[in-house]
Amino acid sequence: MCGIVAYIGHRQAYPVIVKGLKRLEYRGYDSAGIALLDGSLKLYKKMGKVAALEENVIGKSLDGNIGIGHTRWATHGEPSDRNAHPHMSNSGKLAMIHNGIIENYASLKQELIKKGYRFSSDTDTEVLLNFIEDIQKNNGSTLEEALRIALKRVVGAYVIVLIDKDNPDTLIAARKGSPLVIGIGKGEHFLASDASPIIEYTKEVVYVNDYEIAIIKSDELILKNLGNERQTPFIQKLDLELAAIEKGGYDHFMLKEIFEQPGTIYDSLRGRLDVQHGTITMSGIENNIDKIKDANRILIIACGTSWHAGLIAEYIIEELCRIPVEVEYASEFRYRNPIINRGDMIIAISQSGETADTLVAIETAKEQGAVILGVVNVVGSSIARLSHAGAYTHAGPEIGVASTKAFTAQLAVLTMIALRIAKERNAITPERYLHLLQELHDVPEKVSEVLEKADLIREVALKYQDATDALYLGRGYNFPVALEGALKLKEISYIHAEGYPAAEMKHGPIALVDEKLPVIFVATRDAYHEKIVSNIQEIKARKGKVIAVITEGDETVTSLADDVLPVPAADELIAPIISTIPLQLLSYYIGVAKGYDVDKPRNLAKSVTVE
Ligand code: M6R
Repeated sequence: MCGIVAYIGHRQAYPVIVKGLKRLEYRGYDSAGIALLDGSLKLYKKMGKVAALEENVIGKSLDGNIGIGHTRWATHGEPSDRNAHPHMSNSGKLAMIHNGIIENYASLKQELIKKGYRFSSDTDTEVLLNFIEDIQKNNGSTLEEALRIALKRVVGAYVIVLIDKDNPDTLIAARKGSPLVIGIGKGEHFLASDASPIIEYTKEVVYVNDYEIAIIKSDELILKNLGNERQTPFIQKLDLELAAIEKGGYDHFMLKEIFEQPGTIYDSLRGRLDVQHGTITMSGIENNIDKIKDANRILIIACGTSWHAGLIAEYIIEELCRIPVEVEYASEFRYRNPIINRGDMIIAISQSGETADTLVAIETAKEQGAVILGVVNVVGSSIARLSHAGAYTHAGPEIGVASTKAFTAQLAVLTMIALRIAKERNAITPERYLHLLQELHDVPEKVSEVLEKADLIREVALKYQDATDALYLGRGYNFPVALEGALKLKEISYIHAEGYPAAEMKHGPIALVDEKLPVIFVATRDAYHEKIVSNIQEIKARKGKVIAVITEGDETVTSLADDVLPVPAADELIAPIISTIPLQLLSYYIGVAKGYDVDKPRNLAKSVTVE
């Protein structure tokens, strides 16, 4: 995690960097800092959000056409002023920002301490910085050479950017495992963790690859590998508008993103789903359809909300395509020596495309010969580039830390992939296929209908805002929706919540039920409806409070539940995309009622680029 921004050119660096850091705050907001070079090297850093840094620098000298800035998600060392980046080397000549983790920092630190180095923070970053300085001093080498030598000894993941008092016209950056985009302007360059701080200045960008070093002057960008060989920068045009990353009149990004869903789901279907002709066309799938349709097994790898999308995809793919599917937490998969056989296909799901565990998991699988299909939101991200093929979800930039529109777009795309494979394998009847195409086509409209009931959902949220725990229950396709609902509540309102398969409740969690416990059922009409009605009775018999997401007109559940959140009827396989919306709003309104910063919940970051 952590967001980095740097600038070199003809403008004042400070406003460019601060504005950029605010756009990247979703990546971490434990502290922020900036270093500016203007004859002297000026360093300002402050615990808390970028706004705290801005307040702290009032009245101070902020001149300089070259600078680096950082917004932190703490890994090594608590959130504090002293652990904030940038860090300064012992000589005071170098300053550095870092996103990632240096795993062998402890042994490097011991080496440096023996040589007399002093550390003013607990971070791994300060260790790497002084390690680079030490190599430079001992070998009499340039900063670039010293960096190259240092990086060969470093274990871990990083994007670093260095500023050097003795070379005030150059920034040096390097990447392995964490993202780095360089924007190319006229006589200026912008560096950032993603393109959002860059788009208002230039649309021409270069995504730096792993093991590359960038030497950047105002009017020159040189890329080299760690073997000191020049690499040709691949310049890409950004397809992103400024409006997409602004709040557009909403109180929070999360609310904006929830309300964008009719449009974002439509965008993910657009140009792919054609109900009239009965086709689904996704070029990444078409080009690899033989490999995909003949897969012996599909492994889905993801984290968090994306993992929940994977669970729903498992149910859908097995039902429609009759291919066995396993869904893996990326963090477990990468460390457990998984068995990957010839003919296995991996689907990696990720909003950011930068999640470190997912990235390494698919690198491992790729090395073992698996075909990787990426279902990713951020265009040009690391996972997208590492995949053999894939389908972008087209949800647009998701800024709120809690994933909402990315999840529903993932479900739309995964359902299309399942339908396309099912058709190719002749595993689905033409009637069912066409019916599901129509159902998918109708989702944006149905989501709009749910959003029109936002006030009702808000009223329900206010009733339960003081709960200390909550249980989310669902069956079948709605079980992962329950997991996702619980995750949203935890993240946004800090209320302890657990998701469970409704029938599993009797094997333990039912002990929690009393008159204070809200139990949220995802109980839309499906094959298990009668069963879930029984589960609701079981909770009511123990005086639990029942809130139920129901299909409009469901009198049975309405008569049993304390509160209902109705959604339009949909095929059970498509329903999760719709039934998740009221749960997003429920969490949002509870979080807001409790006075929390729902866009930046404590301890979290949007992009988890450390393992
Ligand atoms: O960017 P990714 O989809 O790979 O991120 C995975 C998780 O970190 C993410 O879904 C996380 O759980 C969200 N905070 C959920 O709202």
